[in-house]
Amino acid sequence: MYSEAHGSYDITNKFLSFNTDNRIRKKAAEAILSENPASVLDIATGTGDLAIMTARLAGEKGLKAKVTAIDMNSGMLSVAREKARRQGARNVVFEKGDATELKYADGSFDAVVCSFALKNFDSQEKFLKEAKRVLKRNGTFVLIDISKPESTIGRPAFWVYMRYMELFGLITGKRLYKWLPGSTAEFNRKEFVKKVKGAGFKDVKVEEYLFGISYLLKCRK
Ligand SMILES: C[S@@+](CC[C@H](N)C(=O)[O-])C[C@H]1O[C@@H](n2cnc3c(N)ncnc32)[C@H](O)[C@@H]1O
Repeated sequence: MYSEAHGSYDITNKFLSFNTDNRIRKKAAEAILSENPASVLDIATGTGDLAIMTARLAGEKGLKAKVTAIDMNSGMLSVAREKARRQGARNVVFEKGDATELKYADGSFDAVVCSFALKNFDSQEKFLKEAKRVLKRNGTFVLIDISKPESTIGRPAFWVYMRYMELFGLITGKRLYKWLPGSTAEFNRKEFVKKVKGAGFKDVKVEEYLFGISYLLKCRK
């Protein structure tokens, strides 16, 4: 799906999210940087927006965070590398890697972050286990994504948004946008939070944005 979508991924994201995607990523970058990490791992970085934003924001704040960003799709990674080069982003490296089988040693990172990618993983349990393994003790884990909201305004807004995405998938023929509404509707955020706690993370906090359609989860190893 991503080999088919990488060339137009960024512009489509802006269009489908009404340009709110980077606002939510900025919240994730700020949540991570508030802990002043020296090393950050961005899992399933895609076209690199969050990794580049985190590295740039760290530079602006005079922090020394070095960001490693991984993805398993070469097309997405080449867009990310080109974007980082164009924006003159320093302190960010892109590597090929699998979220459920990380190649890094135990306790390699102060912070691990993941944006809009959770539903792609074959096993959320394996992903959480790996994210926790590569974190240092007390390290920070931040995840942002979209899910079905529970609020009275959020539910109809979500329904309309999913139909909008489906229509986009039908018109463009892109499999990613046909798959996304179904996988998002099936995803159960409460169950996922249970899995996060079950994996042994502590101080789990969830914040909601856009009537609950988007959320940020933050916790600690
Ligand atoms: C919806 S995109 C999200 C990308 C990016 N984090 C963002 O904020 O836009 C999902 C990404 O997950 C990647 N992906 C899916 N399964 C993966 C895995 N097991 N390991 C690493 N990356 C994976 C895909 O290649 C794709 O780039």
